[in-house]
Amino acid sequence: MSDTTGGRDSGMDPRAFRNALGQFATGVAIITAEVDGVKLGATVSSFNSVSLDPPLVLFSLARTALSLPQWRAAKTLAISMLGEQQTELSNRFAKATGAKWAGLPERRGQNGVPLPPEVMLHFECRPYAVYDGGDHEIFVVEVTGYTQHQPGRMPLVFFSGRYQRLVSDGVRAPDDNMWLHGW
Ligand SMILES: Cc1cc2nc3c(=O)[nH]c(=O)nc-3n(C[C@H](O)[C@H](O)[C@H](O)COP(=O)(O)O)c2cc1C
Repeated sequence: MSDTTGGRDSGMDPRAFRNALGQFATGVAIITAEVDGVKLGATVSSFNSVSLDPPLVLFSLARTALSLPQWRAAKTLAISMLGEQQTELSNRFAKATGAKWAGLPERRGQNGVPLPPEVMLHFECRPYAVYDGGDHEIFVVEVTGYTQHQPGRMPLVFFSGRYQRLVSDGVRAPDDNMWLHGW
């Protein structure tokens, strides 16, 4: 198969660029909060670790997200990692006009933030900084606590526009360093 190239210098096709970015496999998370008595939730693949001290993580939200002003106003929030069975939950929180919380059991973190059901792990957070990210806004948040639910479950993976499952080859990354992003 031949190589495919793209980028600003050779004519940027947004769809091709999106496909190229989609070759980086990620997990799937749902960000949640409650602002003025309204529960918020959105599926994100843009979650990433940032810093151990202070404990920071990030996600980015499209400027077109309907609830963007509410996310900017949130004083506390949670980021929940989905397990490999949770494709339906991921799709539910990715529908802009859907009743995202309808019929779900009431569940809250220690900081009072509403949580989606049966997630693998959730981080409880407070705002730290918001940066310009072009057609997205980059939210850096400080982790105030986290809970791992049912340790040992396998994560939902997002790759090439599709949900996938993880197959481990058992090879360990170098463990002779303390670098956050080598873990
Ligand atoms: C697997 C997956 C990952 C997503 N990741 C992001 C993301 O990182 N940032 C984002 O803005 N939207 C992302 N979306 C789309 C949002 O979940 C969706 O637009 C959501 O409805 C936004 O919330 P809104 O109701 O405020 O518009 C993703 C959707 C899916 C299915």
